Amino acid sequence: MKALILSGGKGSRLYPLTYTNAKQLIPVANKPVLFRVIEAIRDAGISDIGIIIGSGENGRRVQNAVGQGKRWGVDITYIVQEAPLGLAHCVIIAQDFLGDDRFVMFLGDNVIEGGISNLISDFRDSDHNCQIVLTPVQEPQHYGVAELNPDRSIKRLVEKPREPRSNLALVGIYMFDENVHSAVQAIKPSWRGELEITDAIQWLVEQDYNVHPYIHRGWWIDTGKPIDMLAANSKVLEELTPRVDGFVDKDSQVDERVFVETGAQIINSVVRGPTIIGKNTRIVNSYVGPFTSIYHDCLVEDAEIEHSLMLEHSQIIDVPTRITDSLIGRNVEMHHSELKPRALKVTLGDNSRLGLV
Ligand code: TTP
Repeated sequence: MKALILSGGKGSRLYPLTYTNAKQLIPVANKPVLFRVIEAIRDAGISDIGIIIGSGENGRRVQNAVGQGKRWGVDITYIVQEAPLGLAHCVIIAQDFLGDDRFVMFLGDNVIEGGISNLISDFRDSDHNCQIVLTPVQEPQHYGVAELNPDRSIKRLVEKPREPRSNLALVGIYMFDENVHSAVQAIKPSWRGELEITDAIQWLVEQDYNVHPYIHRGWWIDTGKPIDMLAANSKVLEELTPRVDGFVDKDSQVDERVFVETGAQIINSVVRGPTIIGKNTRIVNSYVGPFTSIYHDCLVEDAEIEHSLMLEHSQIIDVPTRITDSLIGRNVEMHHSELKPRALKVTLGDNSRLGLV
């Protein structure tokens, strides 16, 4: 079997972070989501992986970060998508790479509990033409939704229905055999101008191909929005095996669910887990609360932060208000200033969000 990871797209819901980085490269628990996807695929025994990337700078960033896959013992082929024309469009442009092989298609911004080994072995040994993964959700109107027949076969798939007929959402992991290539050629773009994978699967259902629903019971998060990014970070942090590879001084309190990476220093601070402190990051006279990931080479000094994601080379120094529920990009500086007038002075990128108290 082969794998196709979708790592193009605009990532507009994560502006401004995605102006200068691909959303799939944003780390949760200090590891890019895309790396987690590659590891899940490798752990399921697949080593031939195609990655769809955009034609712009973010595509090149993905290529630079992932390389040829040697680090994971896999072979990576890049397929450039000129514009984000939809998930089914990705299958069309990957046809040369996929050939007639069965494959798993995995959205590069999705995180799933427990990996995909069971899913893959189920499909590999079956005569299903397609397997989709469904999971119950609270607000199905925001997802692709599957309606099942009484015998649990698929009746219908609808993308973001106004009046959902079930609470079973499509998780961003799909398995296909070669018949999907006819399906993606048969469908037309949707109202939003994209070739929808739900339409291609609906076509397979209508042509009486065997489309099997697999119900996933663990958690699954699509990291499309900032709040989802924080949710994925929290879930992954809860599963992390804590370790202290860095330095903790005797005046600090670091609880047992904290991962302190190599070269990190915790000085006169309180750190409550689950939390990860990245390589060469310094936490000085500060409080770091639960569900926080601070990436490498950061500084938090005389400040308090919790339930947040902070990316590399950023600094928070002498900030009197606790920072919470926040996504902080790279090379960000937040600090107290004595300069007059006493006022809030900010440089915020386009589409930034600032919540003031
Ligand atoms: P989406 O989250 O649906 O789209 P997006 O990344 O453009 O985000 P936004 O809506 O915030 O602008 O995409 C799901 C995944 O599939 C994501 O990893 C990007 C990828 N993708 C492609 O590779 N090509 C495409 O044409 C589309 C639509 C998405």
